[in-house]
Amino acid sequence: MKTRRQVIKEMGVGATLLMSTPYLNGCDGNNPVRGSGLDWRPLDQAPVLPGDTTEPWWLRGNYSPIEAETEFFDLEVIGSIPPELEGTFLRNGPNPYDAPSGHWFFGDGMLHAVEFADGRAISYKNRYINTIAFQEKFNGILGNRGNTAVVYHGDRLLTLYEGGAPHQVSLTDLTTMGEYHFGDQLLGPMGAHPRIDPVSDELWFIGYSPAPPYLRYTVVDSQGQMLRSEAIDIPAATMMHDCQLTADNLVIFDFPVAFDLSLLSDGGFPIEWRPQLGSRIGLMPRSGSASDIRWFEVNNSYMFHSFNAYTDGEGRTVIEGCRYSQLWGQGPADFSSAGTIWRWTIDPVSGTVSEGPIEDVSMEFPVIDARKQGMAHRYNFGLLQRGATPEYPVHPYGIAAIDRQTGRVDQWEQGHAVQPDEALFIPASPDSAEGEGYLMSVIYDRREDRSEVAILNAQDVSKGPIARVKLPRRVPFGFHGTWIPKAG
Ligand SMILES: [Fe+2]
Repeated sequence: MKTRRQVIKEMGVGATLLMSTPYLNGCDGNNPVRGSGLDWRPLDQAPVLPGDTTEPWWLRGNYSPIEAETEFFDLEVIGSIPPELEGTFLRNGPNPYDAPSGHWFFGDGMLHAVEFADGRAISYKNRYINTIAFQEKFNGILGNRGNTAVVYHGDRLLTLYEGGAPHQVSLTDLTTMGEYHFGDQLLGPMGAHPRIDPVSDELWFIGYSPAPPYLRYTVVDSQGQMLRSEAIDIPAATMMHDCQLTADNLVIFDFPVAFDLSLLSDGGFPIEWRPQLGSRIGLMPRSGSASDIRWFEVNNSYMFHSFNAYTDGEGRTVIEGCRYSQLWGQGPADFSSAGTIWRWTIDPVSGTVSEGPIEDVSMEFPVIDARKQGMAHRYNFGLLQRGATPEYPVHPYGIAAIDRQTGRVDQWEQGHAVQPDEALFIPASPDSAEGEGYLMSVIYDRREDRSEVAILNAQDVSKGPIARVKLPRRVPFGFHGTWIPKAG
């Protein structure tokens, strides 16, 4: 059996070994694999994953892990990297080491970083997140993997996992410095989707737990000092992957995917869809406390990820996200449900909620210009998705921007040949207008089994990437990332 010491460090394998492909030379809007002789399925059918069909989907194709921790320099670029993009692009995702994981969510975390400066892609490196579960080669579904997201706040880089504390990581070399507990003040898990108020730079997050108290919210000031943390009383231990923050309220999504630890005794997955619990959204005044939360019933649904929430001109709370009418209908490995981008509008005066689709488009990994967090925003960015089976999850196939003022859906897709991961929005400059900037995504080329970083003009997505950074390897499909501008 391998030890961590045997993890190979590969250095200096040049990108020059890589072949260029037709689609690398610019996007003309056509599917680049037409005429290639390859038997690509129509977009509305799920791709076929290579490998042993007795293996679950999250251990096959580009969901399967890579082993080596590597570092490469001076990466080849097709197109032009905007020189104002100076900083580090980070990605996090599951990469089970030495033993298969029992679920897509539970692979050991691995970080991937690409550094940009002077219009160049200076380096790529990847590192496992050195959690206790990783050190112990723990293969159960419990344990903190650190694999879900990253946040940079208070001059700290934290990797996030909603079943535990964050891990602090060095931005310089991605080494793990250990769990971070906010000066021993962190109570319970931190969750994977904290929200940063762009005005106060406060960090707000929720953490849920299968044991009471089931939920807690925490507020951290701009310097990383914890201001307050309080338990929230909810009737069942539900999986709350996201929260939202307006100028007025913390927004809590209590949707019916719930823990049942008795399922563990049969070796099962301890979380399941329980529609009988109902669905509701809670608004907690930021100046108040957990006892001030007002709950509003909504139609049964689940949501992993939201775009934004804000108070509109009539005092209503508007929430936009990617909604599923149900989740895990055929068990916890079933990610075949396609989400719909959705808007809930809560009127606190009448106590009513109106809800419905924003557009007839299925999207995931929603993103906005983070400078509009908690405010009315104009642009919704995300990944287009479609075509899934219980053996193949809903798969992103394109990147889209929706202009809420004009209704225009501006999108780029390359058929099944290229599958993007979460596309982050990066402003062109700190004072550029909303949506003026770039979308950055790791995209996977199925034909060459290799990944790239694609940079798109967020105001002209359909043009396709204005720059492609050719990575020397594939990057497994992951969860979330961040952009950290160069200091100073
Ligand atoms: Fe997430």
